[in-house]
Order: sequence, then C-alpha cells, then structure tokens
Amino acid sequence: MKVYKDKVDEAVEFLRQRTAFAPEIILVLGTGLSGLGEKIEAEVVLPYEDIPNFPHSTVTSHAGNLILGILCGKRVAVLQGRFHYYEGYSSREITFPIRVLALLGAKTIIVSNAAGGLNPAYAPGTLMVFEDHLNFIPDNPLRGPNIEEWGPRFPDFSQTYDRQMIELTMACAARLKLAHVERGVYVAIPGPSLETPAETRYLRSCGADAVGMSTVPEVIVAVHAGLKVLGISVVSNVNDPDNFKPIILEEIIAETKKAEARFLSLLLEVLPAI
Ligand code: HPA
Repeated sequence: MKVYKDKVDEAVEFLRQRTAFAPEIILVLGTGLSGLGEKIEAEVVLPYEDIPNFPHSTVTSHAGNLILGILCGKRVAVLQGRFHYYEGYSSREITFPIRVLALLGAKTIIVSNAAGGLNPAYAPGTLMVFEDHLNFIPDNPLRGPNIEEWGPRFPDFSQTYDRQMIELTMACAARLKLAHVERGVYVAIPGPSLETPAETRYLRSCGADAVGMSTVPEVIVAVHAGLKVLGISVVSNVNDPDNFKPIILEEIIAETKKAEARFLSLLLEVLPAI
C-alpha cells in the first residue's frame, strides 16, 4: 500500500513533468466563489481527476480544477473547489492539494469560503478577514507520523494568520471604500448538518464570529509547511439563536454569488501588494 508521502510525491512529480510553472500563491476558492478562475491567464488547467491521488469533489456547488497561471502579475495556483470532512474524507485527504502545492514551492495561501455569521453585527455579504480560528472538526491533518522535511511535529499557532496580510487587506478594503469588511474568528464544524439554535449560541459563546465546514484543515497544513496565510469568509447568512431562521443551501449560494464581486475586488487589490 502506498503511504501518504508516496502519494504526495507522485502528484508533485506529475505536476513537475507536466509544467515548469512554480506557483508563489495558492488560492482556495470556496462555495460560490469560483468565478475568479476566469480572470487568470491560465498556463495549465487540470481537472482534479487527472492528477494522481487527488481526492474528487463530491459537492455539486464546487468546480474541481487546479488552475496554474498568472493573476495580477503573480504566479498563482487556484484550487477551484475544495474537499470537506463531511464528504467522508479525512483531514489529511482534504489537505492533499495544499501539501502538494507547498512542495511545488508556494509561500503564501489565501483561503476563502462561504460562512454563517454568528456575530450579530454581521449581515449577509459581510466579508470577514480571519484573525484566528477554532477547529471543531474532530480530526487533525497532522495526526500520525510527522514528516520532518515537511514541517515540525508541534507547529506553533500563536499567529496563524499573517498580521501584515490582515493589515494589508483592511487597508485595501478602505482604499476601495468597501463597507462591511470585518476581522473575526472562524470556527470549523464537521457538518454536514447545520447548526441548531443551541449550537449557534454555544459557538458564539466560544468566541467565534463565523461558522463553516471547511478551511481550517487546509490552514493547519499550510502553517505546518511554513506558508503565510490569509483567510476571508463571505458571510452568506447570519444565524440569530433567539430568532432562528432555516439555513437553506440555495440561499447560501445566492447570497455568496451576490457578494462575490466585492470579494473579488478585494482579492484583486490585495494580490499585487503581496
Ligand atoms: N453554517 C455552517 N456553514 C455555513 C453556513 C452556516 O450557517 N453558511 C454557509 N456555510
């Protein structure tokens, strides 16, 4: 049986054979945010199925392509669609593409997602820049033998999200006069069941401003690999435990799509400045 490291090495080797392109920045595009793919001067577009050992996306709201190309003058690797714990994957499997792209030489990662708002000051369309996170997914992608050449056994998470990139993003939002851009804490839950009112109250009391079912596993691997991390959530719905409304996927996607242009304008302002 192939061990995880062999599978990663095989995917890295495949990509090296396929192209000399070495990405500097990884962009992970979440639910309803894959439109950016069209703005890239693509060098290579690879469906996930074509890359050895890549997991396959089972969620219809996610495209499944790795795009290598130039955006705002930067060499980017765009993961158009991601994998989730609720699909049945382990956190290691979810983060396979991040590990592969880190080994290809990426030094920075920007992760995005659609999230539920817990902070009552948020509204649908709020963009939340990650200050920190809580991992409530009962798995860790670094569990098991540590591969020293990939990173340390006990990586430090005292400053997971790069201070300078947070400040830069807030400055870009101000320059663009984008309203409703906040800094906050993201909590990752396993899903796929959405939160009850009691869980919503609990997550808020834990200090979270937004909740979703992704992103944190990828961030853990990125930090382990020494990457600088920026996280942005598009808040698609705000959940008030005292006046709880049904959370409907179609509405999440529609609200995220509405906010996508704001998200993209922010990203396109931030990228050249990295
Ligand atoms: N909860 C969890 N995940 C989500 C939500 C939510 O309310 N909205 C978008 N993703």
